[in-house]
Amino acid sequence: MSESRIKAPRGTFDVLGDQAGARTELEARARSILEGAGYHRIETPAFEATELFARGVGESTDIVRKEMFTFEDAAGRSLTLRPEGTAPVCRAYIEHGMHKRRQPVKLWYLSSFFRHERAQAGRYRQFWQVGAEALGSEDPAVDAEAIVLLATLLAETGVRGVRLRISSLGSPETRGEYRERLQAHLRAHQDSLAEEVRERIEANPLRAFDSEHPDTRAVMESAPRLLEHLSEADAEHFAQVRELLDVANLAYEVDSTLVRGLDYYTRTVFEFTSDALGAQSGVGGGGRYDRLVQQLGGPPTPGMGWAAGIERIMLAGELSEIGGAAKPAAPVPVELFVAVDGPRDELRGVAFGLLSEARSAGLSAQMDLGGRSLKGQLGHADALGARYVAIVAEGQAILKDMQGGGQEPVATNTVVHAVLRSHHAL
Ligand code: HAM
Repeated sequence: MSESRIKAPRGTFDVLGDQAGARTELEARARSILEGAGYHRIETPAFEATELFARGVGESTDIVRKEMFTFEDAAGRSLTLRPEGTAPVCRAYIEHGMHKRRQPVKLWYLSSFFRHERAQAGRYRQFWQVGAEALGSEDPAVDAEAIVLLATLLAETGVRGVRLRISSLGSPETRGEYRERLQAHLRAHQDSLAEEVRERIEANPLRAFDSEHPDTRAVMESAPRLLEHLSEADAEHFAQVRELLDVANLAYEVDSTLVRGLDYYTRTVFEFTSDALGAQSGVGGGGRYDRLVQQLGGPPTPGMGWAAGIERIMLAGELSEIGGAAKPAAPVPVELFVAVDGPRDELRGVAFGLLSEARSAGLSAQMDLGGRSLKGQLGHADALGARYVAIVAEGQAILKDMQGGGQEPVATNTVVHAVLRSHHAL
């Protein structure tokens, strides 16, 4: 009797074939765009102290309230699989004293994240994000640059029907005053609100703008808007960000109802959506988080960044076509295939030695690992598109030119030399 099959957990997936190729292509493009703009790669651990997200992302957010994969280690410390990358990057900035470096410190990542969400197309429990964070500058040019870089990445990966919405949340102080005004409005219309909105009037009234509930939406139409209550400095900052986006010729809509699912934002917030995605239309978004580093125990340090979902970029984009990857992924051309003709147990060492020598010399080489007959090995080499095949036999080898069709006996230790020589002659 066979054992029952074990499947990948709900909301997770395997990356195979041309998908893997398209991801490699996406990573290469992200690297070239971001490193070209002075961002350096950072990778943080897959899990962190739970406290980091509770404090950083915010106790009242959906992410912290119900979406975290949290567990205890043997010593009883609470750990959480990272649901996002900004708080970990800020933790690393503090831990490594990066405030002593020249500011802003610009970092980018491409990593997997974990949220216990209801799985559906475009929404997974383990997903990947490419993200960029610039710490240590309040300059509106940091905001505009970051937004333009994500726009460039989405354009280069062929994401269709892209729309950019931006807004400003101001400072926590002005937001506090605004919050009271909004709460008063919500309380005045309690009876029309969706239950979950009503329950969160105290904890998170801003999320009411996010509701799909028709009566709640009607109430929100007449709600006071944060953008109209910004301090002068915050309004000026936002005006400059918009001006710079105009300079860069990037189209956007100012949307005063834009809400993000994380608590750390101050001033600029933005989101890119794609109409090629269904319900999960957000491809990427972010904003400024000028208090987060301090909240995590570091020196006062402004920050600005974004993250975009790799799976959503692939769903809404043309990467697999751009990557040119057929199914399965386009193989690396094989320059030398090492086959054996004779007793495998005796010839394996010679073949393996030849394979190592060829790779050390910079050739892409493979050997038969499937226990095939000589005919089967030649067929396999042909399917791989191998340029040369070295057939190792007792005492000598035969070098076969798979394109020219010729073959000649050679001493095993001259095979690599012969391939390299004919390479140069080409
Ligand atoms: P976020 O909006 O929560 O922001 O996530 C950014 C992007 O990650 C989303 O636009 C979406 O494409 C993708 N994403 C989120 N959850 C899932 C999921 N369950 N399945 C598939 N894709 C998903 C952040 O995470 C912030 N850390 C962004 C940021 C960086 N803000 C400042 N710096």
